[in-house]
Amino acid sequence: MTTLEIRDLHVDVAQTDSDAEPIHILKGVNLTVKSGETHAIMGPNGSGKSTLSYAIAGHPKYQVTSGSITLDGEDVLEMSVDERARAGLFLAMQYPVEVPGVSMSNFLRSAATAVRGEAPKLRHWVKEVKEAMTELEIDPSFSERSVNEGFSGGEKKRHEILQLDLLKPKIAILDETDSGLDVDALRVVSEGVNRYKERENGGILLITHYTRILRYIKPDHVHVFVNGQVVQSGGPELADELEENGYERFLTAKAG
Ligand SMILES: Nc1ncnc2c1ncn2[C@@H]1O[C@H](COP(=O)(O)OP(=O)(O)OP(=O)(O)O)[C@@H](O)[C@H]1O
Ligand SMILES: [Mg+2]
Repeated sequence: MTTLEIRDLHVDVAQTDSDAEPIHILKGVNLTVKSGETHAIMGPNGSGKSTLSYAIAGHPKYQVTSGSITLDGEDVLEMSVDERARAGLFLAMQYPVEVPGVSMSNFLRSAATAVRGEAPKLRHWVKEVKEAMTELEIDPSFSERSVNEGFSGGEKKRHEILQLDLLKPKIAILDETDSGLDVDALRVVSEGVNRYKERENGGILLITHYTRILRYIKPDHVHVFVNGQVVQSGGPELADELEENGYERFLTAKAG
């Protein structure tokens, strides 16, 4: 049983012009995700959802100014990015990065070696990757392609789930894993996430704009994220209400 606990988290982002003042994006986020739970975060563009995922993963541009993130009581903010991955945190990014010159197969094996603490035995590993790729309906030729280079939007998202499958984190943060997927890919990717949840009893933090994916991946909790904060939490019915009415009620509540 694992618990990711985020308490009163404040995060600034460094601007590209290093003389410019950092911008205050997260303004006191509170959130608890446990093994076996699926939490959906929904909120308007620019409200800070990806910032939250980067802060958890330890992206150097995102500076935690106060508050805490702990994993089973261990201080995540004290950990390097690698240590966070080894501790069982995983982030599927909204915009996965391309790594020219590094093949998918080498990348995946290095990542698995880093997370597991030893290199997977080659024979087992080849089988493991093959099975995972088959389940996710990924063409074997992708193994030899450079990481994400020239991948279509949907192909990148599928590969994020392939990593999820192979790295078996305790808590997975999925930032708009559904964006840009066609209906078939949405199903395949959702099934991948559900398999992960069943096999690993993983905790999931799913950032999304659409209730479409929530038909496949059933959230236990839905959080409305506005202006750097969780402003309301509820059950799956909250997602339906957002789909129906948008965020206006929360935005005006905030302004008033
Ligand atoms: N590296 C950066 N430099 C400057 N501003 C940034 C940076 N990263 C984030 N921001 C700003 O922080 C705010 C929150 O961005 P973030 O990406 O977290 O939003 P989001 O909720 O994920 O939005 P979306 O739904 O569009 O993905 C935005 O106004 C964004 O422009
Ligand atoms: Mg985002």
